Amino acid sequence: MKCYSYFCAMRKKNKRIILENIEIIDAGAKGKTIGKAPDGRVVFTTNAVPGDVVDIQTTKKRKAYFEGNAINFHKFSDKRSEPVCEHFGVCGGCKWQNMSYENQLFYKEKEVYNNLLRIGHLDLPEITPILGSKEQYFYRNKMEFSFSDSKWLTLEQIQSGIQIEDKNALGFHIPGMWDKILDLKKCHLQEDPSNAIRMATKEYAQKTEMSFFNPRNHTGMLRTLMLRTTSTGEIMVLIQFFEDHKEKRENLLKHLKETFPTITSLQYVINQKQNDTIYDQEIVCFAGRDHIIEEMEGLQFKINAKSFYQTNSEQAYELYKVTRDFAGLTGEELVYDLYTGTGTIAQFVAKKAKKVIGIESVPEAILDAKENAKNNNLTNAEFYVGDMKNVFNEAFIAEHGKPDTIITDPPRVGMHKDVVEQILNIAPNKIVYVSCNSATQARDLALMKDFYKVTKVQPVDMFPQTHHVENVVLLEKI
Ligand SMILES: C[S@@+](CC[C@H](N)C(=O)[O-])C[C@H]1O[C@@H](n2cnc3c(N)ncnc32)[C@H](O)[C@@H]1O
Repeated sequence: MKCYSYFCAMRKKNKRIILENIEIIDAGAKGKTIGKAPDGRVVFTTNAVPGDVVDIQTTKKRKAYFEGNAINFHKFSDKRSEPVCEHFGVCGGCKWQNMSYENQLFYKEKEVYNNLLRIGHLDLPEITPILGSKEQYFYRNKMEFSFSDSKWLTLEQIQSGIQIEDKNALGFHIPGMWDKILDLKKCHLQEDPSNAIRMATKEYAQKTEMSFFNPRNHTGMLRTLMLRTTSTGEIMVLIQFFEDHKEKRENLLKHLKETFPTITSLQYVINQKQNDTIYDQEIVCFAGRDHIIEEMEGLQFKINAKSFYQTNSEQAYELYKVTRDFAGLTGEELVYDLYTGTGTIAQFVAKKAKKVIGIESVPEAILDAKENAKNNNLTNAEFYVGDMKNVFNEAFIAEHGKPDTIITDPPRVGMHKDVVEQILNIAPNKIVYVSCNSATQARDLALMKDFYKVTKVQPVDMFPQTHHVENVVLLEKI
């Protein structure tokens, strides 16, 4: 009874209404666009563009806001552009394809500055325009696709009344649906032969009657396909199997090897766990090397199936150049690179520093960092593994020295407050804060604003067609 009244209350709370003639006035966090309801409440939508005038059917109602979808367009904004992808609107991947790139950049830059001002309450220097990406499509070097025997059917497919026999799919999860996969025809995020390899994998699997994974019952052979590429033309293919059938597995891998002789690294993993992360699994190299090699400014980075590497290589180079410029190194500094991953930033700045120390929590990443530094003949870069809030302590500083400059590039959640506190204890001359989430960056910067002044801000777009944006901030001691 209690349960029933709870659902009743929720239904009443979320009762759908239609808000008419709403002008979309802004775009904001999580890629949602914003309008104002007649009662003054904010309305968030996902399928409109600033400048559109629309009727919105609400899906959620709260004290301060509504959420909903535009169901009728009275005016189309001149900020719109025609989506290039046939999957736009169904696939959750590139939600801003319907907005011109110029306007995507405008709203990303605006979000960064708004966050720094509203969350951080910071005094900011003059605004530096966001650095756009030269490539607006086909910029990703890593893609992960899922196999499923429960293909997502579009409304048209359902309404057509035609019985769909083939329910196998290879593609992306439908947003918010863990068990439904969109069967991709062409994805505009990774350069070919990415699409060709994915399509050939599916075609061969279908022809030879290999079973696709069923996420509810945990059955089936084919689970995921990962493709990684480098700017030097190397390709890694990794297939994850659930049920193992040796002969079928080998036939598929042989087929890919013969059809795509340019594959540098062909690997597989047999994962019979509940979840499909490969990080705790043994990966087997079927043909070629167990890694690919990316290059940047003469440095080489070995990337294996588990390695972290920035997913837009060209823009990563721009991001790192901004970071290095902001650090303004003279060759005399001891630099700490916090959250170093595979040590790419550390190695990128090493030639301009006396010494660089990288810290990171993933042991495999630190092994890669050490190996890469050795291969790159860098003798002044050292790497240490552990959770930042534990490793980056007094004893560590006493042993390795007080840094003159700290570069920090934390995950989306930002830095732990103990880490911020430790940075303030050390009080380096400069801090370069690289972030993929300007809201948590602003929160962290607010904790430092009595001691550091923000002297430079540079947003960088690494992910065209999405709302995501990186931001680099230079802090100098007051
Ligand atoms: C945004 S990535 C930065 C990677 C690197 N700077 C680069 O450009 O390739 C954040 C990194 O922080 C690491 N990380 C996350 N939480 C951590 C923690 N508590 N302690 C140390 N490292 C952590 C992640 O494993 C990841 O490599």
